[in-house]
Amino acid sequence: RILILDFGSQYTQLIARRVRECGVYCEIRACDSADAAIREFAPSGVILSGGPESVTDTETPRAPAAVLELGAPVLGICYGMQAMAAQLGGRVEASAHKEFGYAQLRVHGHSRLLRQIEDHAGAEGEALLDVWMSHGDRVAEPPPGFRVIAATDAAPVAAIGDDDRGWYGLQFHPEVTHTPQGGRILERFVRDICGCPGDWTPGNIVEDSVARLRERIGERRVVLGLSGGVDSAVTAALLHRAIGDQLTCVFVDNGLLRLGEGEQVMATFARHMGVHVLYVDAEARFLEALAGVEDPEEKRRIIGNLFVEIFDEEAAKLEGVTFLAQGTIYPDVVESAGSAGGVGGKAHVIKSHHNVGGLPEQMKLELVEPLRELFKDEVRRVGLELGLPADMLYRHPFPGPGLGVRILGEVRKAYADRLRRADAIFIEELHAAGWYERTSQAFAVFLPVRSVGVTGDGRRYEHVIALRAVETVDFMTARWAELPYSFLDHVSRRIINEIDGISRVVYDISGKPPATIEWE
Ligand code: XMP
Repeated sequence: RILILDFGSQYTQLIARRVRECGVYCEIRACDSADAAIREFAPSGVILSGGPESVTDTETPRAPAAVLELGAPVLGICYGMQAMAAQLGGRVEASAHKEFGYAQLRVHGHSRLLRQIEDHAGAEGEALLDVWMSHGDRVAEPPPGFRVIAATDAAPVAAIGDDDRGWYGLQFHPEVTHTPQGGRILERFVRDICGCPGDWTPGNIVEDSVARLRERIGERRVVLGLSGGVDSAVTAALLHRAIGDQLTCVFVDNGLLRLGEGEQVMATFARHMGVHVLYVDAEARFLEALAGVEDPEEKRRIIGNLFVEIFDEEAAKLEGVTFLAQGTIYPDVVESAGSAGGVGGKAHVIKSHHNVGGLPEQMKLELVEPLRELFKDEVRRVGLELGLPADMLYRHPFPGPGLGVRILGEVRKAYADRLRRADAIFIEELHAAGWYERTSQAFAVFLPVRSVGVTGDGRRYEHVIALRAVETVDFMTARWAELPYSFLDHVSRRIINEIDGISRVVYDISGKPPATIEWE
């Protein structure tokens, strides 16, 4: 397995995902991890990430001594390369001009890391690679024992290597997709140079998790809140594979779910897989608690608290439960720890919409988080391996408060019923037109304003549905999807014709920022 030391780069998680894609397990730890912890991890190789600081400042971080004493291969990326070069006696200088964006890399001679990897052949038969650069400082002179294995026009020392020790430094970022051969370079490092077998596959992950869960849980019982989302679904399937009937899932239907969602969860888990699921119909309680409430944050708070209250009531009725399972995934762990806080272990922040932290004290449940080490794409592949339906695993994200934040202002049952049907029509048509996969999130919003319409001889004075569809990678920024007019026309007609009480449909053309993806 590979250890990734995080020097604060925005790309550190990407490095980890690329390594995992090579079938190799890795973990991210803070760059100031203790030597003892590094030795205990016993990595087959270490990757030093990039980072925002400058090696030419004296107070900036360096690789822990243990990394260079392990005898294992090391790959320094950007700041990681500079730190390594400085520590091993090379020279790093602040460069007159910062380099950001594409560069063409000329590979020199032969190195174990870059041999036979190229995008183009150069004039003298040398390999050329398109790479993504983002740096201010650069290595001016490699440390003793290293040679320059590649250069760009702006960085004569763009890659260094010592084939004997398996130590390398890259000034560019192999982890980003803008470096087309980056995946192969990382694979070369972790598989060939570090000698890691590519056995981190969904099948092995399942087998390994099942064994560990059985070992830890034994004959005891586990409770899990099932939400219909990907993470809790895969957690349920994995636990069920490991401990069968010792798992009880609680599914709280808050009346704010998508059309047929509760039914799909029960069909998949209870009927098809034979998972023990307690279905709690709590629609009336949620609607009552939300009556007259218009403020979005107040609605979120009410929905979140009531969920915890109901989950607690149900869990308290179960006999002899020792464990509370949660669908925490690796990005939650890494993000909540923060690089300065020392990634790996300390953090135990529970996602707000999964927050069941209000469990009665006397229950003293221990947490089980079987997906804690997995990225989202790995979670999905593990779900497929466990036989969960692909449409459940590849569904667009849905907020915890559900339709509660898609009915603007006060939530009423009649509004929720109309919105659910409008949303189902929109999603069905997106699938039919091949647009569902091309959008990251799409949904309908209920606007409690009325507008005038006319059908036949009759005048209508009814509510409005807004359609929202966005493309995004990280949900921090998003563009509205340019759905074809003919498609929007078709969806609009269906919604107005098929749903009583809706006389107008509009399409949201606001980007994020400044608008958020949800309307509330
Ligand atoms: P915004 O609206 O902030 O949404 O652009 C970004 C992403 O977060 C989701 N979202 C939520 N998820 N509880 C959740 O679990 C919430 O209260 C919540 N609010 C927004 C939203 O659906 C989008 O994917």
